[in-house]
Amino acid sequence: MLKPNLENYEETYKKFRWSDVYGELEWLDGRLNIAHEAIDRHADSWRKNKVALYLERENETSEKYTFLEMKHLSNKFANVLKALGIKKGDRIFIFLPRIPELYISFSGILKTGAIAATLFSAFGPEALRDRLKDSGARAVITNSELKARLYEVKDELPELEYVIRADEKEVKEGEVSYAEEMKKASRNFVVEKMAPEDSSFTLYTSGTTGKPKGVVHTHAAIVQQHITAKWVLDVHEEDIFWCTADPGWVTGIAYGILGSWSNGASSLVYEGKFDASKWYSLIEKYSVSAWYTAPTAVRMLMKAGEELPKKYDLSSLRYICSVGEPLNPEAVRWSLKVFGLPIYDNWWQTETGGILISNYPCMPIKLGSMGKPFPGIAAAVIDEKGNELPPGREGELAIVHPWPAMMESIWKNEEKYKSYFKGRWFLTGDRAYVDSDGYFWFVGRADDVIKTSGHRIGPFEVESALIEHPAVAEAGVIGKPDPVRGEIIKAFITLYEGYAPSEELKENIKNFVKKRLAAHAAPREIEIVDTLPKTRSGKIMRRVLKAKELGLPIGDISTLEEY
Ligand code: PRX
Repeated sequence: MLKPNLENYEETYKKFRWSDVYGELEWLDGRLNIAHEAIDRHADSWRKNKVALYLERENETSEKYTFLEMKHLSNKFANVLKALGIKKGDRIFIFLPRIPELYISFSGILKTGAIAATLFSAFGPEALRDRLKDSGARAVITNSELKARLYEVKDELPELEYVIRADEKEVKEGEVSYAEEMKKASRNFVVEKMAPEDSSFTLYTSGTTGKPKGVVHTHAAIVQQHITAKWVLDVHEEDIFWCTADPGWVTGIAYGILGSWSNGASSLVYEGKFDASKWYSLIEKYSVSAWYTAPTAVRMLMKAGEELPKKYDLSSLRYICSVGEPLNPEAVRWSLKVFGLPIYDNWWQTETGGILISNYPCMPIKLGSMGKPFPGIAAAVIDEKGNELPPGREGELAIVHPWPAMMESIWKNEEKYKSYFKGRWFLTGDRAYVDSDGYFWFVGRADDVIKTSGHRIGPFEVESALIEHPAVAEAGVIGKPDPVRGEIIKAFITLYEGYAPSEELKENIKNFVKKRLAAHAAPREIEIVDTLPKTRSGKIMRRVLKAKELGLPIGDISTLEEY
């Protein structure tokens, strides 16, 4: 039995300073580089021949890469980018499935000092355009399967100079062949030494209003990703760690790549989609010991029944964590029954860059609670004026800023960045309460952000796609509670004259959004209505739609125009 990395939460919380972690990293003349911490320092140590990445392909073949191989390959890719003239601060996007090139290019970008950005491989042309345009991306790394979606919008992206094709030797004019360039490139590269506050990676994420915003992180984020992976996810040197999140989302980057490697563990990546039997078989095949997943995935495993896991040897598992949505107590009870282990919930956001509130192996779990603030983090529940509320009172979850992994900016949107802060507080947009033992309990979002299967979806992005359909005059989108997915996206729409409501039309509209944005961003339910509730200024009141859907009191409707 491995001892937990964190043995006494209360004591550590009292004494801890972020600077205590600095010694666990390898600084480069007072500077640092995330890719050096995650890969190179292990490749230059006795761990060099240890497997960093186990990658199981969708077609059931598998590959593995040691830390030394990852160092050489990411160095090569850094040289490829340098030869193209890519420099510090340039935005380089990766639009790939979970294949080795994703992990190699991500690390290579960081080594050059450019800003690495990931795009979920399910994104459609519109989702790509919004992100690539806003960020002024200079290069995109993609493959033959996904490139068509990029080419649909490429004309609208004047700053996009290079399309790097990861899987083809023969490339079109204006494209760069990953295979050819990697062959020519040297495996030696002097990693860019970055200031802690320099930008490292960016991810687009959604709020209530407007299109997705670019959340920019720093190289200092590794300080927090390292120590939270160690103390919260309990990652040990000897672990086979499996983070099921795609690097298109922050969890897949901060822990699927950075925090786990920084701790010298081997990471498993599965290219394919969720499938209960496949997931169990992966745990068995790779002897996964530490596992970081999401409540929707657990609920989907629960749906697949208790007999299925009995067919596999899951005895390698020793620690399970979850993030992204509320973890229901039934899911933890089920896990205890099936795996003989509880699930440790933790809380954070794209903007926070690392885990802030969590359960720990050394602290009793209260079923349904997100746990307690990580050492170095002061969290509170506050009222509208910013006053701290006593235990038991519901308010907005707020964190005293800054902390090492906190976002450094919202790309080209200072006003939006500022809106996150109120005096000493960082405002999370989540409603919560704290109990008298200091445990935090999630209540819900304070805004209209939707969480479906753990994905964070902004209603505005979906509404914008909906009204581009020729039949749709207006659209209001809400999250509707769902027993498996947490929430599903439900759209209320009005139609233009000449269009009659029908099931066929609804299907057509769903597919329209799926193709443009992504399957997970398309409404699962569409209701065609005659009018939508609006304020006098014409804003659709999603709050009213949601209250009606759930049969709840509608609340203050003094600004309501009509319904
Ligand atoms: O509403 C909270 C929910 O997910 C939001 C952040 O989403 P995202 O930026 O996609 O990051 C997710 C993974 C880091 C939060 O504002 N959330 C996250 N963790 C939990 C949670 N809700 C309840 N319980 C959690 N443990």
